[in-house]
Amino acid sequence: MLVLGVLVGIAVLLYVLARIVAANTQEKHVVSDPANQAVVAERIQPVAKVAIAGQDNSALAPTPAASAAPAEDLGGEEVFNMACLACHGAGVAGAPKMGDKAAWGPRIAKGAETLHKHAIEGFQGSAGFMPPKGGRADLSDKSIINAVDYMIAGSK
Ligand code: HEC
Repeated sequence: MLVLGVLVGIAVLLYVLARIVAANTQEKHVVSDPANQAVVAERIQPVAKVAIAGQDNSALAPTPAASAAPAEDLGGEEVFNMACLACHGAGVAGAPKMGDKAAWGPRIAKGAETLHKHAIEGFQGSAGFMPPKGGRADLSDKSIINAVDYMIAGSK
């Protein structure tokens, strides 16, 4: 019993000692850590900033989002498979099918210029509605033109 009592006493002593040491070091370290301070500063940022007339508000200028980068121009076949195939592959909802000469003949007769414009800006025809850029506003105009030329070439 005496041995057990001594061991329990030592354990309690070590626990108290550890708490005393920790109280003086642990939290202070965390609070003064630059990484922690940066995270806290970010969390307590004001939710909004106010521009004041007649003062320098240049710090409030919106930073352009990374996604606003101009879309790169893709090849016709790539764009077709990615954005047009869903409707023009099987002729969904009145879309002229890729390779269907009868459906494309009168459209091609309108001229490539018109078809480019209709594909980029959208087109409501008698057969159905062609959404602007096939619903892929993120694609560049040139990519859409490439896709139209690809469809025209494959449907002549
Ligand atoms: C949601 C379905 C859908 C998608 C996706 C789609 N189209 Fe269309 N498209 C149509 C329909 C429907 C028409 C027929 C409109 C009509 O003449 O009534 C059409 C017509 C066209 C025409 C002919 C326009 C005219 O003046 O006759 C072109 C060119 C065209 N689409 C290009 C594209 C290209 C390029 C893509 C991919 C970037 C694409 N489409 C994606 C539905 C779609």
